[in-house]
Formats: sequence, structure tokens, C-alpha cells
Amino acid sequence: MQPIYYGWDAAKEHDQEVGHQLFDRHATTKRTVEKLADGIRTLTTSTDPVTVALLHDHVLAMEERMRKGLVMRRWDPFFPELFRYADEIHQRVEPRPDGILVEAHSGNPYVVQLLYRHAEAVTDFAKRGWEAAREPHQLPPKPTSSLSTPLSQDAPMPTNRRSADDSRPLLNDQSQSPSAVYPQQCRGQGGHRRGRHGPSNVWR
Ligand code: HEM
Repeated sequence: MQPIYYGWDAAKEHDQEVGHQLFDRHATTKRTVEKLADGIRTLTTSTDPVTVALLHDHVLAMEERMRKGLVMRRWDPFFPELFRYADEIHQRVEPRPDGILVEAHSGNPYVVQLLYRHAEAVTDFAKRGWEAAREPHQLPPKPTSSLSTPLSQDAPMPTNRRSADDSRPLLNDQSQSPSAVYPQQCRGQGGHRRGRHGPSNVWR
């Protein structure tokens, strides 16, 4: 179990924007989820190249956030818990031309349950988009041995925040940044600006 951090960091706005775009474009995605004894294997594809680029960006960014404990969606009990246990997840991410394959394993049975729940949550996001975005997710029953730190004891933001020029994994074969790939969609289309400054922002 690792400490997790709430608050603002340099990458958050970008990561929110990408996530909002994914909610907007959820209908172009297809997913298969295999539950393994010790984890999951998921394949998420899209017929839309912009959505594929967004998926690559999102999954690689979330993987990095999990490693650093930089929580998104802290109001949903499930996500802080997933981030707390990120150090017990061994993961392989394979960006593909039409989507992304993720394989995640853990030696901790409770974390395996978290991985199952997370895969189900993503499937629901992909299926219902914004309709699913504001619904919280419950935690699996917790064995007493893996009781986690209460929220109030989680750490404040670290001083070593990510810098704005933090190097990001490549988006696609042309090495374009997300704003180069979808500048129009980023600016004002769709529902992704809904409530972003209020408590209803699903990424905070
Ligand atoms: C507020 C909304 C969301 C949050 C906080 C969120 C967060 C996360 C996190 C923490 C991960 C784990 C990264 C890792 O595997 O290391 C992840 C993975 C993933 N997310 Fe999201 N996500 C959100 C919305 C979405 C949406 C809308 C889509 C697609 C329509 C999506 C697609 C994926 C995919 C494909 C993965 C790879 C893991 C899997 O396939 O189960 N996410 N996300």
C-alpha cells in the first residue's frame, strides 16, 4: 500500500480534458474483459483514430498517476482505494493501432477484486459515457488484514509535483500531442465542460 495525494498537479487539466473526450466518444469504443485468477486482461478498441489516440494517452497517463499516487476522481470511494494499492499491481500496457491492451496482475486477492471492479467500471464508462460518469463505485469486501489508511490520514500534495513539461508517452505513430490530434474537439464541443468547475466534476 502506498500514500496517495489529492489536489492539483500540472498534468491534471490535460488528463481531465482527455477523460472528458473519452466520455464524449464512448460510443465508438468496444471492450472485452477477461478475468484471470490473479488479475485482468482487457482489450479496448475504437473505429475512430482520435478515440484510439485518446485511449493511449489516458491509459498511459493513468498508469503514471497510479505509480505516483496522484488520485483522480477522489469523491468516488473506489478510485482512492485503487491508487492506494497501485504498488501491488503489476501491469503491461500494449498500445495498438486500433486500441489498447492491458494486462494487470496482483498477488493480493483483495487487489485482484479491485482490478475486477475497475475493469467493470471502465466497461460501464465505455458503454454509458456521461450517464455512468457521476455514479460512485463501491469497494469489494475488505479482508481485515488489508484495511487501508482512512482518508484523513492520506498525505497532502507532495512538493515534487509533475512539471508542465513532464515528458508524456507518445500519442500515436506521428508523435503528435493530443491538442495537435484533436484541437477542435478539445475546444468547446460535446458535454465535457459540464460542471468542470463545480463539485460535479467527475475527475476531481
Ligand atoms: C472519471 C473517469 C475516469 C477515471 C478516473 C479513470 C481512471 C482510470 C485509471 C486509474 C485507470 C488505471 C490505469 C492503469 O491501468 O494503470 C484507467 C484505465 C483505463 N481507462 Fe479510465 N478512467 C476514467 C474514464 C474512462 C473512460 C470514459 C474510458 C473509455 C471510454 C476509460 C478507459 C480506460 C481504459 C481502456 C483503461 C485500461 C484498463 C482497462 O482496460 O480496464 N476510462 N482509467
